[in-house]
This record gives sequence, structure tokens and C-alpha cells, in this order.
Amino acid sequence: MRILLAFCVLICSSLVLGEHLEADQDILIPEDWTRVGRIAPTEKLELTFALRQQNVDQLEHLLLLVSDPESAQYGKHLTLEEVSALVRPSQLTQKVVRHWLQSHGVTDCQTILTQDFLQCTMNTQVAEALLPGIEFHRYVRDGISLVRSSSAYQVHEDVLQHLDFVGGVHRFPPKGQDLNEVLTKRRRSGAKFHLGNTPATLRSRYNLTAADVGSAQNNSQAVAQFLEQFYHPADLAEFMTLFGRSFQHLSKIDRVVGVQGAGKAGLEASLDVEYIMSTGANIPTWVFTNPGRHETQEPFLQWMLLLSNMTDIPWVHTISYGDDEDSLSSAYMMRINTEFMKAGVRGISMLFASGDSGAGCRHLTKGENSFRPSFPASSPYVTTVGGTSFKNPFKVTYEVTDYISGGGFSNVFKMPDYQVGAVEGYLKAVSRLPPKTYFNTSGRAYPDIAALSDNYWVVTDRVPIPWVSGTSASTPVVGGILSLINDQRFLKGLPSLGFLNPRLYQLQGQGLFDVTDGCHLSCLDEQVQGQGFCAAPSWDPVTGWGTPNYPALLAALVLEK
Ligand SMILES: *[C@@H]1O[C@H](CO)[C@@H](O)[C@H](O)[C@H]1NC(C)=O
Ligand SMILES: *[C@@H]1O[C@H](CO)[C@@H](O)[C@H](O)[C@H]1NC(C)=O
Ligand SMILES: *[C@@H]1O[C@H](CO)[C@@H](O)[C@H](O)[C@H]1NC(C)=O
Ligand SMILES: *[C@@H]1O[C@H](CO)[C@@H](O)[C@H](O)[C@H]1NC(C)=O
Repeated sequence: MRILLAFCVLICSSLVLGEHLEADQDILIPEDWTRVGRIAPTEKLELTFALRQQNVDQLEHLLLLVSDPESAQYGKHLTLEEVSALVRPSQLTQKVVRHWLQSHGVTDCQTILTQDFLQCTMNTQVAEALLPGIEFHRYVRDGISLVRSSSAYQVHEDVLQHLDFVGGVHRFPPKGQDLNEVLTKRRRSGAKFHLGNTPATLRSRYNLTAADVGSAQNNSQAVAQFLEQFYHPADLAEFMTLFGRSFQHLSKIDRVVGVQGAGKAGLEASLDVEYIMSTGANIPTWVFTNPGRHETQEPFLQWMLLLSNMTDIPWVHTISYGDDEDSLSSAYMMRINTEFMKAGVRGISMLFASGDSGAGCRHLTKGENSFRPSFPASSPYVTTVGGTSFKNPFKVTYEVTDYISGGGFSNVFKMPDYQVGAVEGYLKAVSRLPPKTYFNTSGRAYPDIAALSDNYWVVTDRVPIPWVSGTSASTPVVGGILSLINDQRFLKGLPSLGFLNPRLYQLQGQGLFDVTDGCHLSCLDEQVQGQGFCAAPSWDPVTGWGTPNYPALLAALVLEK
């Protein structure tokens, strides 16, 4: 008894002082990062504080109204000022958080227009006192260095209910596609000759004619890059010279937001700009590139802050970025999901790649596995894009599942109402499902839509490369097509599509080519033997509703509203 009591005095006293904001955050250092040393107490770092917002329920309700064509509010999007008036943290929250920071001597802080994030610079010593439990170290991977903590942090109990999370402590950027990896994989697999995807095959498959290019005033689209990826203007120009002959297009990026680094072009970055500008042809395109450059920043989070600090941003954003849901704290994911609502209610469409590991695989205990959903793909407030291949790689005919296409069910987000019918329909109709222990049928199911995702021709470092694959290819292709539809809507005086899912699910596949063949990959174990879900008529968790048939999709999405 006495021992227990003494134990409690130790543990309980630390509980009274501080509380964990992100108790379920994975704090293990990914093995590809090498620790180089502890950060000196006087070294400066920058932390991002996510302040608790107001009226998040109301924001969610409004988002669903402005995104539902059956509502009288459809298309009545909010300005950033209106979003700010709605969600801005209460005076009390702002006061308590600032007071807490000031009492530690933290005064060098910047806010954003919606006032729901604070970014502060301070000494490491101060940060370690502010957030008991943390210990900052420097880590390196491929010449990039980051400052992170390998132990969990706490905050004073007074601020607990005023903060969602602190950014810049945990979370390492996931590894992107590396050109050398792509080339090695292809060589190993002894890839056979194929025609490959070019703007011409995509425009032909998705029924875009030479006349289907943008022309509206103030239309725009964007790609965002977070993994030290840079596109080269010369690569884009050469790509358009080689592959853009049959349609009117732009060959230059309109605006780069962030720091455009020097050095080698990133494969991902080249792919994104080259293809969003091939389907969304002639539409001004922005690149958001590594907005976070300080070692303590989380580039993805920085980008989210940037969007809430700019009144004028493009209508469509495509992002090829994702992490395992189970590696992120639920507090972080919930808050980022609210950030997606803030974008959607402004009429902005957020498209995320569904991932390249099929249903994924998480090893729970020895011999026991489950699928592994990916975030932000699993957010109910983004449109998630899966991948397909041509049935016959030498012909522009019908599409089948690309086995890498990410898909499945979230363990964090509940299934949104807009998809309940579609998902229930699938679960009932499909003849063979993976064992129930592998996935969670109460979660948000994804993807929502798909496009071709293998063997793209990309120009990178002046060289055309033919084997680039992944849902990071299909996502900008769909993004460009939505931008073209926005363009036609603007010409008719209609608002942007904004958050597409409620309307997309109401279409029940109208305007899309249904993909019904093939399964995606998953755990290589005895139970599922490498197979996740399979495509089926109508919606499925591999290719969503299918791939765009532009004229039909346009017709469905410019009707009246
Ligand atoms: C938001 O924008 C304002 C005005 O441009 C700027 O002063 C501020 O530093 C920005 N906030 C952050 C966190 O970058
Ligand atoms: C679009 O493409 C498909 C298949 O390539 C074709 O069958 C269809 O007639 C085309 N046009 C329209 C308007 O759907
Ligand atoms: C819209 O047009 C204005 C004026 O030409 C320009 O300053 C602004 O950047 C444009 N916005 C976007 C998102 O393209
Ligand atoms: C299944 O998903 C729901 C949310 O949709 C969540 O509340 C629940 O914890 C999840 N179950 C597991 C085992 O992860």
C-alpha cells in the first residue's frame, strides 16, 4: 500500500503539472533518420501552436450545406474573413495561451488571419521548459536535417483545453518517390515495352477535345510539394514542347509560393506540374513549395497555415502526400480535418492521392495483421484519388484497377453521410471481402474517384522518363479536369465546385467510367495473401466511382447549380 502511494506521488504529481495533448502520437524515430546530436539550449527553434477553434460543428454543417446541390445554400461559399469570424478562437483562449507563452518569456509570435495558429520563435531551453518531457535532437536523412523530440511533450493543465496540438515536436515527413528507386524497380521487374501515358493518351481516354482548355478569368489551380521537391521551369517547357502539340496550354507556372530550392528536380514535382497543366490546360497554375524551411517546422502544416493566411488562392489543389493514420495523433488529424473544412467552405477543392500501397498492412502482433489506412486520404473532407491501368497497355481502351491504388476504411473518421449508401451497397454486393478484423466498416471509406496511374512520361532534369507511376500521377490529372469544369462554371456565372464529395456521390457514377476489374494489394499473410479489396460495379474502395469521362462529367456538373 505504501509503495503504491509513493508511486502515485511520483506519477500523479507529474500529471497535475502537465497533460499530454497528443497521447497517441507515435514518437518513434523512423529508421531512415539518423540522430546527430542534442540541440544546444541557446539554439532558436520555431513551434506552431494550434489554438482551439470555436463553432467547428457549425463550420461542418455549413460546409455540407454549401457543398450539397440539394441545399438552397449550395455554392454560397464563405470568404476567408467570414471563416475567420466563425472559427476564430475565443478571447479567453487567445488570452490564456498568450499568457502562458509570455510567462515563459515567449513573445516572438506570429498569427494568421483566422487567428487559430500561433507560430513562435524561442530558445531550445525555453521550449523544453514550456513543454515538459521533450528533448530536442537534430536528425538527418539524405542531406536534409530536422529538429524533433523523441519523447512526448506535456502542456500546463491551464492551457490544455485551449490547444489542439503543438507542431514542430514530432512527425517526420514521409519518404517520397525517388527516381533512382523507380528506375531500379523497373529494371528489376524487367519492365516490358509499353506505350506509356502522355497528355495525348490521357486527353483521349478522358474525352478531352482540343477545344477543352481553360479560358475563364481568374481560374487557377495548384500543386503543393513538401518533400524538398522542386520542379524546373525548363523541364516543364521541354515537356510541353514534346507532348503538348495537340492542345493549347501554358508552359510556365504562374506563381511559386514558398521557397523554390536549387538542385536536382524532384520526380514528383515534375510529374505534378506537367500533368495538372495537361488536363487543366491553359489554366494558370501555382506551385506551393516547401513553405516550411526551418528545421523545426512541419512543411505540410506550414502549408495549411499559409492557406488560412491568404485571401486569394487557387480553386483546386492537388497533393500527393500521406502518412499512416496510426503514426499520427488523433488530435492532429482531427484538427487538420477542420482545416480542410475551412478550405472547402471557401469553395476550394482539395484532392489527395490515395497512396501506393493498396489497402496497406499493419503488423499488430505475431501473425496478426490489419490493413493500414493513410491520412489525409482518409479525411472525409477531401476528395481522394485512386489509380487505374489500361487493360491493354498498347491501346487506349478500358481501365482496370492499378494494384497499388490506395483504398480502405479510416479508423479515425466516421463514415460521412454522403457515402453511406454507396459503401453499404458495395459491402452487400461484393462476393468476397477480406476478414472483418482487417478493416473498420464504420470508418470513412476511400478513394472517391480515380484516374490512370502507371507508366507516365515525365521530363525531369531535361530527360524524358517513361515509367513514372503512382496515385501521385492520377491526382493532378483529376485536379486538372475539375479545374476545366470550374472554368466552364465560371463562364456561366456559377460558383466553383468546392468540396466535391456530396455532389459526386449524388451522381452515383454518372459522368465516370466505372472500373470493375482487379484487386489492390495488402498484407502478404496466409489470411489475405496479398489481396485487399476488389473493384466492383458502382463505388468500390479501390477506384471509388471510377475515372472521368469529361463531357459527361461536365454536363452533370454544370447543370443549373
Ligand atoms: C500571415 O500573414 C501576415 C501578413 O502577410 C504576416 O505578417 C504573418 O507573419 C503571417 N503569419 C505567419 C504565421 O506566417
Ligand atoms: C467518351 O469515350 C468513350 C470511350 O472512349 C466513348 O465510348 C464515348 O462515346 C465518348 N464520348 C462521350 C460523350 O461520352
Ligand atoms: C485573380 O485575379 C487577380 C487580379 O488579376 C489576381 O491578383 C489574383 O492573383 C487572381 N487570383 C488567383 C487565385 O488566381
Ligand atoms: C473504427 O472506426 C471508428 C470511427 O469510424 C472508431 O471510432 C473506432 O475506434 C475504430 N475501431 C478501431 C478498431 O480502430
